[in-house]
Amino acid sequence: MRKPIIAGNWKMFKTVSEAEAFLAEVKGKAEVEGVDSVICAPYIALPALTKAAQGTKIGIGAQNLHFEDNGAYTGEISGIMLKDLNVSYVIIGHSERRAYFAETDEIVNKKVHAAFKHGLTPIVCVGEKLEEREADQTKNVCNVQTTAAFQGLSAEQAAQVVIAYEPIWAIGTGKSSTAADAEDVIAYIRDVVVGLYNQETADAVRIQYGGSVKPNNIKEYLAQPNIDGALVGGASLEPASYIELVQGAK
Ligand code: G3P
Repeated sequence: MRKPIIAGNWKMFKTVSEAEAFLAEVKGKAEVEGVDSVICAPYIALPALTKAAQGTKIGIGAQNLHFEDNGAYTGEISGIMLKDLNVSYVIIGHSERRAYFAETDEIVNKKVHAAFKHGLTPIVCVGEKLEEREADQTKNVCNVQTTAAFQGLSAEQAAQVVIAYEPIWAIGTGKSSTAADAEDVIAYIRDVVVGLYNQETADAVRIQYGGSVKPNNIKEYLAQPNIDGALVGGASLEPASYIELVQGAK
C-alpha cells in the first residue's frame, strides 16, 4: 500500500513573508493521517519554512539542487546546504528546468544521486511535449527519461524515488490529462521500473500526476490504481485550495 503524496510546487512565487503566512494558515489543516503533504518553495523561503513546519506533518522541499556538493557554481545551491536546513524533498528535472535551463537526462541523473547522497527524497519529473504526444511518443519519452533518471541507483534507492508524470501540454494550461490517460502512462512508467529492477521495487515507487490538478479533480486521479498523488503548481499557491488537495487525497 503506497502512501499518497501531494506536493505543491510554488515555482517562482511567494516572498519569505508570504511563505510564512501560508504555512501558518495551512498548519493543522493540510496535515492528514496517511497522506504526505509537501511544499516545494523557492530557496530563500526554505529556512523559514523548515522552522515553521517543525513538529507538523508538512514536509518541505526545494525545487532544484546542484549535483556537486560545493564549488565555483555561482548562484547554485547544493544538497549539503539543503540538508543543513532540514529540507526533506527536492524536485528534479521539472520540464521548466529542462526547457529553460538546459537540464539533460544526464544532469537529472546526477542530481538524483546527489539527493540520495544527502538524504533528500527526489521527486523526479518526466513527461512529453505536445508534439511528442501527437507523434505517439509519450511512452517512449517517459521510458527514456525514467531509465536515465534511475541509472546507477540501487533497488533500495529506486524504491524511495517519487516520480511525477507531468505532460508538458497540461502544465498551467487548464488542460489536464484525463484520469484514464494519466493512469495509462503512469502504469507504463511503473512497468519501466519493473524492467529496470523488479516488481517489488516498482510497487514501492510512488508516481504522481501533475498538470492542472485542482481540488475538483484530485479525487479522480487518486482513484486510479497507479496514481499515488499529485505535483501541483497553480492550485498549491492558495492555502484553502492546498488544504483541499491534501484532504482530497485521503
Ligand atoms: O510541477 C507542477 C506543475 O508543473 C503543474 O503546474 O499549475 O498545471 O498545476 P499546474
